[in-house]
Amino acid sequence: MILQRRPRILRTSPAIRSMVAETILTPNDFIVPLFIDEGKNVQTEIPSMPNYYRRSLDLTVKEVKELWSMGIKSVLLFIKCRDELKDNTGKEAWNQNGLMQRSIKAIKDAVPGMYVMTDVALDPYSSFGHDGIVENGEIVNDPTVEALVKMSISHAEAGVDMVAPSDMMDGRIGAIRKGLEENGFTRVGIMAYSAKYASCFYGPFRDALDSAPGFGDKKTYQMDYANRTEAVKEALLDVEEGADIVMVKPGLPYLDIVREVKNAVNVPVSVYNISGEYAMIKAAAKMGWINEEKAILETLTSIKRAGGDLIATYFAKDAARLIS
Ligand code: PBG
Repeated sequence: MILQRRPRILRTSPAIRSMVAETILTPNDFIVPLFIDEGKNVQTEIPSMPNYYRRSLDLTVKEVKELWSMGIKSVLLFIKCRDELKDNTGKEAWNQNGLMQRSIKAIKDAVPGMYVMTDVALDPYSSFGHDGIVENGEIVNDPTVEALVKMSISHAEAGVDMVAPSDMMDGRIGAIRKGLEENGFTRVGIMAYSAKYASCFYGPFRDALDSAPGFGDKKTYQMDYANRTEAVKEALLDVEEGADIVMVKPGLPYLDIVREVKNAVNVPVSVYNISGEYAMIKAAAKMGWINEEKAILETLTSIKRAGGDLIATYFAKDAARLIS
């Protein structure tokens, strides 16, 4: 054959392949979700998330130091609230001495350079396991937004770098931005979970925090996975209201949404490679059906290729090790 173009030329050796690689993962891409528990020297493996742990604050601080030494720059904090502190107002969420607030302080004290983000939503604190306040079986928007503003300000007071509202209430980004401004927190950022879908893949996470909804589902606030245009609408609204970063979540089954949002906004896009995505790779690897390390790198690269500037992932440590 006499061919004008031979695309395989750019794939002939590892050298040329790496020279023309369009997407390169670095530890700067990763945000590490951390599950924090009360107590001392406590480390509990999440049953549906093998090799992932919920840790007491002392061990969490140790972990954060290790992450920092591996070149990882950001953590995203979640806490497991004690049952007796849960109620329908979620008020433990803005307790200045709450586990979250103590965690922010301890981590920033131990590793000041680490960029600390916090999940903002009422579900870990809610006796109903919902992201908002419940009235007559309904998750009410505006009172919930007021609670989220209080929660965000309390995180800011504790020294957080960026709050990450994951609740999907209307108008919360604008309200949180206003609250931060009015209280002088002009350096605190907002990473909005803008396109967060009602997904079955959150299951393992809800095991980790014991935060599964006590009744119904989250479909009146999280998005319908049939929709794409709606994701762009949500992302644009959040940018308008003051989001510094917008997020798409879940990751892998939503790469079309990632690209769509990436093309629509002028802020960085983050993607949450969530608990169910982690569990699926772990399970298949355990069965010997896929190569875990290769699956991790291929997954994270595909998310970045789709348009994810940042990736929240339980594989961050593994990936940082694999790419170093
Ligand atoms: C809570 C929240 C959830 C996740 C992050 N923040 C669960 C949910 O909305 O039910 C899921 C993360 C994961 O599955 O890894 N608002």
